[in-house]
Amino acid sequence: MPDPMIEINGLVKKYGDRVAVNGVSFRVQEGEIFGLLGPNGAGKTTTISILATLLPSDGGQATISGYDLVRETNQIKLLIGFVPQELALYPTLSAWDNLAFFGRIYGLRGTALKERIAAVLDLVGLWDRAGDAVRTFSGGMKRRLNIAAGLIYQPRILFLDEPTVGVDPQSRNFIFEHVERLKAEGMTIIYTTHYMEEAERLCDRVAIMDEGRILALDTTKDLVGLLGGGVIYVGLAADAIEALLPSIRALPHVRAISAQDARLKIETSEARPALLELIELCSARDVPILSLEVLEPNLESVFLHLTGKRLRD
Ligand SMILES: Nc1ncnc2c1ncn2[C@@H]1O[C@H](COP(=O)(O)OP(=O)(O)OP(=O)(O)O)[C@@H](O)[C@H]1O
Ligand SMILES: [Mg+2]
Repeated sequence: MPDPMIEINGLVKKYGDRVAVNGVSFRVQEGEIFGLLGPNGAGKTTTISILATLLPSDGGQATISGYDLVRETNQIKLLIGFVPQELALYPTLSAWDNLAFFGRIYGLRGTALKERIAAVLDLVGLWDRAGDAVRTFSGGMKRRLNIAAGLIYQPRILFLDEPTVGVDPQSRNFIFEHVERLKAEGMTIIYTTHYMEEAERLCDRVAIMDEGRILALDTTKDLVGLLGGGVIYVGLAADAIEALLPSIRALPHVRAISAQDARLKIETSEARPALLELIELCSARDVPILSLEVLEPNLESVFLHLTGKRLRD
């Protein structure tokens, strides 16, 4: 395998007593879309802010395109674009002038600057609004301009921090299409989100993050494979659990079983037939089902399976 574009080992960040990033390690290959999926406060923004050289870490190492994050910061700055979660735009300036501002930070001037502004405005579909003040833009248009600002210096690596928050479905699709186009051009992209559908649609590999740690990291397909055919949580009276346990374990579509409080967690090879078998068994033994929840195999369920909590409350 070629050298990774991004490699981090044991990254740590503390805010006072709070450990925001707690020993995070991963590698991202060139041209990959790598997802960081996790709920509020997981440590996604902190992690990518460190990688984008915006925040110092308190431990661990990282290299980007072979450059050391601490000693070779200047080389790294020229390789990366960062699209922050909070919009970083000047509302009274036009779209064009906002982009000119960001371009000048990178030393772009004259024709080169104009060409880049035109290119990124075209890319995000805002060419016809170039002269309008940003305060007149819709939420989705602001998001798209925010992305354009991150692309002004033609980065090889782009950090996108929850780029679709607060946008309508149409702008959201537009953003997905940009991201896919950038990937097709060979860009390496780190994409944070707490929407599992976005991670499933866009990302080659996904790291599931919670409380500063990575709990699992793989392709979506293999992560979902962790759940096998899905998990059933069933609530039964305590004596019924004891009486039925061996029979449930023996059902054809049941793979593993464990008791959690007054519920049984049943891992299945396929949720639907397992559910039918379970209901048949309970009714044959005259055991009432007190509660029932079926987790179909998707990233949201994988998250629940790994953490015991939901991505979104
Ligand atoms: N500047 C700061 N000062 C103190 N604590 C901070 C600061 N920034 C982040 N934190 C804390 O670090 C933890 C991780 O925050 P971070 O912003 O990285 O999470 P996130 O995964 O990006 O969440 P979200 O989905 O809400 O954006 C949280 O507990 C947060 O309160
Ligand atoms: Mg964040």
